[in-house]
Amino acid sequence: MVTNRPRTASAPVKALRIGALVVDPPILQAPMAGFTNFAFRRIVREFGGAGLLATEMISAEGFVRMTGGVKGAPARLWGVKDEPRPLAVQMWDNDEATLAEVGRRLAGEYGVSVVDINFGCPVKRICDAHSGSYLLSEPARVGRIVERVVQACAPTPVTAKIRLGCSHKNVTAFEVARAVEAAGAAALTVHGRVAEDYFKGSADWDRIAAIKTKLDKMPLIGNGDLDSAEKVVAAFERYGVDGVMIARAALTRPWLFREAAAALRGEPVPPAPDLAEQRALMLRHHEQIVERFGEQRGNVLMRRYACNYAQGKRGAVAFRRYINRVVTNDEFRRVVDEYFPRA
Ligand SMILES: Cc1cc2nc3c(=O)[nH]c(=O)nc-3n(C[C@H](O)[C@H](O)[C@H](O)COP(=O)(O)O)c2cc1C
Repeated sequence: MVTNRPRTASAPVKALRIGALVVDPPILQAPMAGFTNFAFRRIVREFGGAGLLATEMISAEGFVRMTGGVKGAPARLWGVKDEPRPLAVQMWDNDEATLAEVGRRLAGEYGVSVVDINFGCPVKRICDAHSGSYLLSEPARVGRIVERVVQACAPTPVTAKIRLGCSHKNVTAFEVARAVEAAGAAALTVHGRVAEDYFKGSADWDRIAAIKTKLDKMPLIGNGDLDSAEKVVAAFERYGVDGVMIARAALTRPWLFREAAAALRGEPVPPAPDLAEQRALMLRHHEQIVERFGEQRGNVLMRRYACNYAQGKRGAVAFRRYINRVVTNDEFRRVVDEYFPRA
């Protein structure tokens, strides 16, 4: 577990290199299905501090199916072609040829900065498809997949994201990490839990640090439970990772990246936006989501972001109760008005 302290880095932390890409600061926004779409990434970029952003994971097989017909690209690639770089797109599947083909197109047609492969998802639907964390029990197969995708995407760097293993009885991260490195991946992200944990307990940063010692030169990005600038500093100073990745905490506080980046530079952590600024942020986010998805679907989708923004605030329980019923823009604004003060 990463504990707090020291508050700011005692020495400047080096930029992370993923192939030819320089990730500076070495703080990555994690892929999160259902959340890290274009609108959310725009907010992360506005606050700054994230050196590399990632999309939600996309199904490689779905990509091939959709782009072969009239339906166009997967909805999860919203914004990807035009938004600023650097940007990583994550994909999942277990078929080397499909992943290689999609990786080649993401690197070529979409010009993404990094192609990431998911070997960590513990969700039943993905594991039943023998993908995501299911593949952690087959390190050699992970290596073959990565090798094919690396060849197909060159010179765009390919990375992999894993958990420690499928279960506590089957911790394979060392073997998988070595296979990923031997296959030519440009970096590896390790979420310090096994798949059967889902999100139970705490991430095992000692294990993450131990994996680092088994690698030759491939950079290692640590992930799990980082929810403060202090913990990010501690991850670098105590566990020797080359980069860190933040997921859930950024949904509640997308300005966390900027706080962590300041701490890594040894500077004071900037103040969080006040409640009025957070209110404006939520309404801006709502506007973009509704513009993209329409009023009804947009408001339903926005509920989950709004609940995250409200987390830990006074009145959050009542806010959640009401926001989870809104279907129109007026209703959404009314509930926000009631719980978040205006400037
Ligand atoms: C709602 C949700 C969706 C996620 N979707 C993905 C995903 O698409 N791909 C992936 O590699 N990890 C996914 N994750 C895992 C996160 O990227 C990250 O590894 C995990 O949440 C641990 O980091 P944290 O403690 O900072 O949240 C997801 C996590 C959450 C909570």
